[in-house]
Amino acid sequence: MKKRLLSLLLILVLALSLFPAALAVSGISDVPADAAYAPAVEWCREQGLMNGVSADRFDPEGTLTRAMLATVLYRAEGTPAVTDASGYTDVSAGNWYTDAVLWASGADLLQGYGGGYFGPNDPVSVEMLDIVMARYRGELPTWAGDPARAVPATRAQVAVALYENLGWEETTRGGKVLVAYFSATGTTRGAAERVQAATGGDLFEIVPAVAYTSADLDYNDSASRSQMEQRDPAARPAVSGAVEGMDGYGVVFLGYPIWNGRPPRIISTFLESYDFTGKTIVPFCTSGGSGFSDSGLHELASGATWAEGRRLNSASQDAVTQWVDGLQLSFKEETTMKLTVTNGNTSVVFKLNDSPAARSLAGQLPLTLDVRPFSFNEQTFYPPTALDTTGTPDITSAQAGTLAYYAPWRDVVMFYGSFSGGGRGVLFELGQAVEGADAIRELSGTITITAK
Ligand SMILES: Cc1cc2nc3c(=O)[nH]c(=O)nc-3n(C[C@H](O)[C@H](O)[C@H](O)COP(=O)(O)O)c2cc1C
Repeated sequence: MKKRLLSLLLILVLALSLFPAALAVSGISDVPADAAYAPAVEWCREQGLMNGVSADRFDPEGTLTRAMLATVLYRAEGTPAVTDASGYTDVSAGNWYTDAVLWASGADLLQGYGGGYFGPNDPVSVEMLDIVMARYRGELPTWAGDPARAVPATRAQVAVALYENLGWEETTRGGKVLVAYFSATGTTRGAAERVQAATGGDLFEIVPAVAYTSADLDYNDSASRSQMEQRDPAARPAVSGAVEGMDGYGVVFLGYPIWNGRPPRIISTFLESYDFTGKTIVPFCTSGGSGFSDSGLHELASGATWAEGRRLNSASQDAVTQWVDGLQLSFKEETTMKLTVTNGNTSVVFKLNDSPAARSLAGQLPLTLDVRPFSFNEQTFYPPTALDTTGTPDITSAQAGTLAYYAPWRDVVMFYGSFSGGGRGVLFELGQAVEGADAIRELSGTITITAK
């Protein structure tokens, strides 16, 4: 008996040493540190997108409702103000998810079923998740009704999808847009709302600490408050409230009515309240007939780049959107994707172009596979799924650092020497190395490829 007990104990000790308890991601007991989805969970938690089901549990195998997915995407967008009333019979005002659902459906990411239903409590299927992510990338996916993907997506799958599609996004100039406006009688507010719709930015109303009465606004009375202020270049009417997180905005649209041929002095107060260095300011106005003016404003935010302003009185939503698009501001530029190829202590970072092929590669990350040297100037690897090369620039030459896809063999090529004389329609450019290009030549054995 004693012998049996001893051998059982021995087996137990052996089993424990062979299978040490998997280390969990810090602070989360149910996500093993070596799980493929662990980096995605950590990232989602860092970003405050998916915080888990309790302080120490993420519930990776759990599922997510459509309301929850809308909320996660809404958080990723910085929870912009939503003014629309709910048109869905099953999404009442004031729910924890109402704004998120209205935003996600207004942004065409997650739409209702028709007939006024959104289905906030329905689980998100794997196919639905794929579709939402494709829409997020700006694609126009079609619903395949694939039975294999009709199963609910797990929270781990959602975390990975978010990490792959949002995790490497980086806009070139701080990205976020603020639409700040002052409006005494509501006209500029309407224009600001159209600018907000065109930019997806955050709306901020410049509210005077002391509201203007109609007597104050009487421009026929030279002794009225507005007239006295406009005559006095030093007048700085106080603003009530402040923009939260101004540092995070790269582009500020600034709207105001024209008063006596120029911007109201409260706009000067606003400009002097923040540091606009490095930001782009796009002024716009409404008026009773006078043309646009930003007279006296530039010197109050001289570190900013001032875009040409526009009077927007009668500009329709389409006209405003066209104007905003025409400005070609960086927040409208495509987001930049980067991927990192790691091999031991060596890593190479590639900046991807915005082609469908680069996106299909990014969608397969993270990958762990073998690098295969080819010729005297290439290192290659084979992504599990062929890349979609439609609309991807084909190249007939490459330099050291070029990342490309050789469609006939379905392999990705990292060039460490130049190449020329290729045929058309076989080699497609995916991007360029931006860090560690010299190390491409040294890569060998197993590499991991992650979104940066
Ligand atoms: C004090 C004051 C001065 C104004 N001066 C001008 C002006 O010089 N030229 C003009 O075309 N409109 C002028 N207006 C009209 C406003 O610019 C116009 O009604 C504007 O669209 C109002 O915007 P809001 O409703 O957002 O305040 C003035 C209005 C006020 C109250």
